[in-house]
Amino acid sequence: MVDAVMGSYQSSRCVAFVQHDWRLLQVLSDFRHRRLAGFFVGYGARRYDPLDGTQEATDMKTAMDDQSVAQRVLDHIANGTTDVGQEVWREPVENYRSGERLAAELEQVLRRAPTPFCPSAALPEAGSYVAREAAGTPIVVVRGSDGKVRAFRNACRHRGMQVASGSGCSRAFVCRYHGWTYNLEGSLRHIPHEEGFPGFDKEAHPLVPVIASERFGLVFVTQDEPALGDDSLAGLIKLIGPDQSLFATAEREFEVNWKILLEGFIEGYHIKSTHPESFLPYGFDNLNVIDLFGRNSRVTYPFQRIKKLAKVPPQERRVEGLLTYVYHLFPNVLITVLSRHTNVVILEPVAIDRTRQITYTLTNGGGDDPEAIAEARRDAEFVGTTGAAEDRAVVQAIQRGLGSGANEAFTFGKFESAIAHFHRTLTAALSHS
Ligand code: FES
Ligand SMILES: [Fe+2]
Repeated sequence: MVDAVMGSYQSSRCVAFVQHDWRLLQVLSDFRHRRLAGFFVGYGARRYDPLDGTQEATDMKTAMDDQSVAQRVLDHIANGTTDVGQEVWREPVENYRSGERLAAELEQVLRRAPTPFCPSAALPEAGSYVAREAAGTPIVVVRGSDGKVRAFRNACRHRGMQVASGSGCSRAFVCRYHGWTYNLEGSLRHIPHEEGFPGFDKEAHPLVPVIASERFGLVFVTQDEPALGDDSLAGLIKLIGPDQSLFATAEREFEVNWKILLEGFIEGYHIKSTHPESFLPYGFDNLNVIDLFGRNSRVTYPFQRIKKLAKVPPQERRVEGLLTYVYHLFPNVLITVLSRHTNVVILEPVAIDRTRQITYTLTNGGGDDPEAIAEARRDAEFVGTTGAAEDRAVVQAIQRGLGSGANEAFTFGKFESAIAHFHRTLTAALSHS
């Protein structure tokens, strides 16, 4: 499933800050415009059985490089094959319906995994902040005066009011309730009529920090200890580059369990049946490359036009615009790299049968070039109003059918191995904690 619901991205500028520290802005500007080459370097071994023509998706440290993906797609086209997983997975339907299970997923996995919170581009300058719930916890992330991203539990130390909402740019967080004021590093700096709080230690009452890190063009937040290790991202070079402009954000809620929404993104077995007129004419029936790396995965959806690469020497092949990459970053985030735009999709569980989907839409490059942004916008609108709408109809129908009693378990076959990998990983993470 590929989604792009358009909204407008507002970035109010911290004018006061611009006047105070232009050197930091220069650093940030360098950060935003530095180009990094390539998406991934892959080291994983692949299995290929020339007798039956299938290729197995195997667990590996990193995803394959673009040239290896292109070759693998061309081989599949020539042989009429696709990537297949090693096992069929049966997932109990109860796991989509149990409030206890959702509570465990939130407490033991979503709050303990380093989870992408927003793209770095959503925090372009000192004072830029984004506040939202992550795994049910109000969190605010902010870029400090030193350029570093920090994250806090978004609750005032007086009586718990949220100190920030939405996104914007500010030099401090001023609680709307009684005006307690925190700086960008979270320190409590001002209490109106402080004499009413004799003996209160301001220094002992900063905003409560959580772990934040910035990698691959994304801001990651880990709320609780012990954190699930972050080795699953080892080997990544880039996901979102500094020349990709953020031009839209959107939030929508769906009456669907978060895992059902997720599953719609990471298999191509449904393309022919679900998307006969939107995606199929440009793509293939059941032809995907599936990389499993650490806890994550990437599903490649090639377009018909990738066939022209057969005539290009392997090392000169460029795949941009010839395929869609859908990265699943465990547990609940997807990065969809389409022809002319990229989405960062965050699936925030709201209830067992309700999910808030936050979508950040970026160009695929070109910095602030208006033509690149216009092109990306057109591409996103096409996908959002055609194939993505078809996917939404399917997942909502599945949710309605959960209570039918027809299935005790769902069966994910060998073409749905990225989903099997997700459930295997989730199950293991829950049983280890
Ligand atoms: S709750 Fe924030 S100042 Fe009172
Ligand atoms: Fe789909």
